[in-house]
Parts: sequence; structure tokens; C-alpha cells
Amino acid sequence: MGTLILGIESSCDETAASVVEDGREILSSVVHSQAALHAAHGGVVPEIAGRSHLQEILPVIEAALEKANASLESIDAIAVTSRPGLIGSLLVGVSAAKALAWTHGLPLVGVHHIEAHVYAASMERRDAADSPYPCLALVVSGGHTALYRARSEIEIERLGGTRDDAAGEAFDKVANLLGLPYPGGPSVSRLAEKGDPTALDFPRFRPESEEPSFSFSGIKTAVLYHVRGQDALAPTPRPEEIRDREDIAASFEDAVVDVLVEETLRTARRERADTVLVAGGVACNRRLRKEMTERASAEGVRAIFPSPAYCTDNAAMIAGLGFHLLRAGRTSGLDLDASPR
Ligand code: KG4
Ligand code: ZN
Repeated sequence: MGTLILGIESSCDETAASVVEDGREILSSVVHSQAALHAAHGGVVPEIAGRSHLQEILPVIEAALEKANASLESIDAIAVTSRPGLIGSLLVGVSAAKALAWTHGLPLVGVHHIEAHVYAASMERRDAADSPYPCLALVVSGGHTALYRARSEIEIERLGGTRDDAAGEAFDKVANLLGLPYPGGPSVSRLAEKGDPTALDFPRFRPESEEPSFSFSGIKTAVLYHVRGQDALAPTPRPEEIRDREDIAASFEDAVVDVLVEETLRTARRERADTVLVAGGVACNRRLRKEMTERASAEGVRAIFPSPAYCTDNAAMIAGLGFHLLRAGRTSGLDLDASPR
């Protein structure tokens, strides 16, 4: 038996726990999604999220241990997302992890959620020769859209990110406008398959500076004006009154994907990176996977993605990265703090 890590994740609207052996072998990965609770509000409501985590955290941890055929006696350390995220949500996972670490005398490892998203893509690559590092990593989710230079699992440096909305947030807002359910990424993407991505020309942000950056508020506003007309006082039409919803979804998705791919490849050129790694919830997007793979390959760059189940929030990535942090001696004390940043 190798080193067993229990991972706990509660930074946003998924309560998750997982047992991973030696940083790679996923023995269990349990995810309780709160999407249905937040759907009526068109986005995550922090108070609702915190309360749901509190209800679910212990059952989810128990289920993860049971599925892995493990008990707390056989676990070697507890890894938990301590930042960034919604503070009330993070505190639930961090408090549970501290209590378990203290009562069972186990090392506690605080994990950075974004670094864990990046790690998710390397977890599934079993062959050491197949390692993604060093690489340029694009983390694209509901809360984050940024580029990182990743030298190894635990050496990650932020190069730049969005000036306004995260890409996933733009998907969620456009979904809301089009009357599609939360989370918006999958629902916009499904509708987009029936539309023409060239039907509407939404603006694509291209930074003037060298420094990598993204912006999605222009695209989002253009979608709003297209739906409502140019009259600022006009009411927003009801979703069923919008006639070209499929084309809007397809053209919006095409614009967001184009911005993500262009800026990532521009940065890859600048960094002389031969691998780009894409992670986070929006990395599930089929158009992004296809466009990034094809356009990177045309420049001799390899593009890698986690499988969709490990793109969105999960605790396997937390336990997995926790193993490497533990091995590097980067454990936390029982005074581990949670931080929104
Ligand atoms: O990584 P994640 O589960 O949570 C955060 O850390 O934010 O990402 C969730 C985000 C949501 O905004 C969701 O709309 C988006 O990922 N998403 C997608 C797709 N699946 C999930 N966006 C575009 N296309 C998808 N297929
Ligand atoms: Zn995430």
C-alpha cells in the first residue's frame, strides 16, 4: 500500500472528497453538486453554498472513504482546499479537515485550488515520460481565467489573467440572458451545436501589451445589446422571444474560444512553451478542446486536457497535489487559514 491522501474540496458549489494513492491512483472521487440549489438564482448564492457544504461534508467524506475501502486509520494525510474561493464555503472544508487531522494525529496539507486544477491534467498521465511539465497552463473556470508558467506540480507562477469576468462566468451570464439553466457552460454549448458560429460577429479582445490578459465583458455586453437592441431603456426580451438563440450561443462560444486560444498561443510563443495544459470547468467545452488542439498543433505545440470529470471541481485533484506537497514537506499547522484570494 502506498501513501493514501484524503482530499477535501468545498471552495465553491461542489462538496467533494476523494482518496488518492501516491498522487495518481484515484481510489474514490465523490462530488456532491449544489447546481440544482443555485439554478433558481442563476448563479452561486454564497449563503446557500455554505449551508449546503455543512450538511454534505461528513456524508461525502464517509462515502469517499467507503468507496476507497479505506478508513481514517489507513489514511496518511489530509489535504484540503484552503484558497481561493468563497470564504464561507472554504471554512467548512478547512474546519472538517482540521478536526479529522487533529483527532487522528494526521498531517494537514492546505492546497491552492488553481494549482490543483492544473495538477488534474497530469494525474491521468501515468507514464513519467508523458509528464506535462514544464508547460504553460490555462486555468479557465467559473471564477478564474488566467495563464500560469508551471515548472512542476508544485512550482507554478501566474503570468496574467482576466481584467473582468472569468470565461465560465460569461457563459453563466449569457445562459441567464438566453433563459438557459445554470451552470451556463454546458447549456450554452448544447444550444450552440445547433447554431452558426459565424452568424454574428461579437468583439474579440486582443491585448495591446506584452503581458498576457483576457477580457470577456465586451462579448457579454455585445450579446446583451444584440438581444435587447441598441435602446438602453428597452426591456430585455423574454428568452422565448429571442429568435436566433442558437446562432447567438454558437457565435458567443466561438468568440470566447477564439480569445482563449489566441492569447494562450501568443503567450506560448513568448514563453517558448511546447506544451499547453488547459484545466478548470470551461476545459470541458468541446469547441475549446478542438480549437486549442488543432491551432496548437499547427504551431508544433501539444495541448493537453484532463478528462471532463476532472476539469470541473473535484477532490481527487486536491488529494493528488496534496501528495506532492506532503512529499516536499509543505504541510500546514492546525492554524491553517482559509482565504478568498
Ligand atoms: O472549475 P469549476 O467547476 O468551478 C470553478 O472553480 O469555478 O468551473 C465551473 C464553470 C462554470 O462557469 C461552468 O459554466 C463552466 O465551468 N463550464 C463550461 C462547460 N462546462 C462547465 N463552460 C463552457 N463549456 C462547458 N462545456
Ligand atoms: Zn474550480
